[in-house]
Amino acid sequence: MQNFDYMTPTRLVFGENVVEKLPEVMAAIGKRVLLTYGGGSIKKIGLYDRVKELLKDFEITELSGIQPNPKYNPSVLDGVRLCKENNIDVILAVGGGSVLDCSKAIAAGAKYDGDPWDLISYKVKAKAALPIVDILTLAATGSEYDCGGVISRTETNDKVGYLDPLLYPVCSFLDPRYTFTVSKKQTAAGCADAMNHIIEQYFCEDSTLLNDGFCEAGLKSLMVNAKACLENPEDYRARAEMMFACTLGCNGIYALGNSRSGWPCHGIEHALSAYYDITHGEGLAIITPRWMRHILSEHTLDRFVKYGINVFGIDASLPKQEIAEKAIDATYAFFESINIPMHLREVGIDDSRLDEMAHHIAVNEGLENAYAPLTEQDIKEILVASL
Ligand code: NZQ
Ligand code: ZN
Repeated sequence: MQNFDYMTPTRLVFGENVVEKLPEVMAAIGKRVLLTYGGGSIKKIGLYDRVKELLKDFEITELSGIQPNPKYNPSVLDGVRLCKENNIDVILAVGGGSVLDCSKAIAAGAKYDGDPWDLISYKVKAKAALPIVDILTLAATGSEYDCGGVISRTETNDKVGYLDPLLYPVCSFLDPRYTFTVSKKQTAAGCADAMNHIIEQYFCEDSTLLNDGFCEAGLKSLMVNAKACLENPEDYRARAEMMFACTLGCNGIYALGNSRSGWPCHGIEHALSAYYDITHGEGLAIITPRWMRHILSEHTLDRFVKYGINVFGIDASLPKQEIAEKAIDATYAFFESINIPMHLREVGIDDSRLDEMAHHIAVNEGLENAYAPLTEQDIKEILVASL
């Protein structure tokens, strides 16, 4: 078991109507609030009006229109400018992972005098960040319980994961009812994203029985509950369990004491959504089974066998190779069963830029150090198999 040093300072407030506690939480932090949100879903579900009512005694500045795969220009830059112009005390992010991620980059940029990209690209280490509170409306990324954000810079085809302990939200409000309106496409993509977060942690050299058990339970919970949410979008029990499983999925807690895995599917997917602006969870669902097939070897076989038996209930008496292959097939079949397009071509990606993307990934993502090391050629082969 490996050494670790762990702290998540985020307060989670979970359940129906928890947003009513918002004024109390915000009052302890500051009066001048930057309210950040996306393209308008929070208005449709009545959350925008409720937040404005709850915060009627606060000074609110708004940044709206944050897009999926949030953009450095204009969203991060606009947010930083608004924070500085209005002397903002706290950011209230209301939305899915994209709004939260963008808000994290803004929080760091607001306390920095130079170009915020210096921070996101790790050229400069942030010394401070504004506090962030969030109200989550989409179960997927786990941004509400981690210190990372992923920002896209269109002109350079970069989509960069930016992590800093300064960026843990102070408090995350999780009311599963706000996810009732999430579309079937985004519900399925959210499930695939959270499943992949767990898979990225599970497939490593050195893990514990404890962590393997958490991961296996997390995967089973996500599969059962995502299906229930798709069947009945207002199934509170299912939305609630899915939300909490997603929250725990990306925090690193399932990998404490494990050796590092390198998060290879994310390394590959971030390039896909940087170049083609696709939905992150769909890109992951497409890549994951092809990556699995590519890395299946004598060295990784036992990991796949454990995954197949404990997650999908595959007959343990079968030959190991057969169990592993059935496990990969089952992973693919599950994503297909929740109607995720399972080929790159279906999400608008052809073979014209695969070389360029494989090179970009190999240079920027460090996947030669992953659990199963990937060279540029390996990455290209996974992309070709995903077409
Ligand atoms: O913009 P609005 O109108 O709010 O609509 C959004 C958006 O169109 C909509 N939506 C959100 N809540 C809704 C809703 N529609 C109806 N009802 C609701 N309650 O859903 C669409 C997608 O939203 P988005 O925030 O983009 O989705 P998600 O939460 O999946 O976030 C994806 C982003 O997070 C990054 C991804 O790369 C991607 O950029 N990730 C962040 C991570 C992190 N911070 O730790 C880890 C992940 O691996 C991931 O990379
Ligand atoms: Zn993800």
